[in-house]
Amino acid sequence: MSDERIKTVVEDLERTLLVFIRKHQITHDEYRHATDLLVSSITAGEDSLLLDVFFAAEATDIGNLGRKASPQAIEGPFYVPGAPALEPPYIVPQRPNEGGDPLYFSGCVTGADGEALACTEMDFWQADADGLYSNIHPGIPDWNLRGRFRTDAQGRFEVKTILPPPYEIPKNGPAGRLLSVLGRHFFRPAHLHVKLRHSGYKELTSQIYFQGSDYIDSDVANAVRDGLVVPLRRKDSASELAARHLQRAYWEVRYDFALMPD
Ligand SMILES: [Fe+2]
Repeated sequence: MSDERIKTVVEDLERTLLVFIRKHQITHDEYRHATDLLVSSITAGEDSLLLDVFFAAEATDIGNLGRKASPQAIEGPFYVPGAPALEPPYIVPQRPNEGGDPLYFSGCVTGADGEALACTEMDFWQADADGLYSNIHPGIPDWNLRGRFRTDAQGRFEVKTILPPPYEIPKNGPAGRLLSVLGRHFFRPAHLHVKLRHSGYKELTSQIYFQGSDYIDSDVANAVRDGLVVPLRRKDSASELAARHLQRAYWEVRYDFALMPD
């Protein structure tokens, strides 16, 4: 971000907030209350959560304007680089008794002109059946439900994981207290996270949501976008179970990604 850009944006923010303070007759005590809230959110370990739940998705949308490829989504606070590289057939690392129904996530990756992108790296992470993330929340093995896999020669991929639930963002800290005052819930709808990387193309950060799932229309982070919501198909017939060598119902979800040239 150039100094010139910073000057332009900050001066406009300053003008906007001065008008806002005058409009709402914000007192000094109220102003100090707001700055204390920001500081306490950071010192409570919430990092930028307080601002992200309101603004991160909107800023992400700016990068999607005029985009002729798959929309990017917010990264969220739980990405950790360095997830293990998996070997095909791809199954994300999980505990022997991992909760949640089996889920097969598949699709293909192309360039914006439809060319198949073989060997695209897909850096995947998601919540477990309790809505918790490994490497973040205690009591979960490192890299559980995280892993990197690649597309095949035709740009296709498939990975076996578990169906994640909706989960609540931290609600007992400063951000949660503010959301409570606003009368909002704390849930994000169920989703998968993935970053896609291929040389010659821009890295894409995506989130995949499921049609009809709880909180899909009231995400606390307001980050659900039509282009990121796909059908979730339940599979439970004898032939479907036999095809996957499973004795229990499972789910399939498909999403095709298009990457922008670098
Ligand atoms: Fe998430």
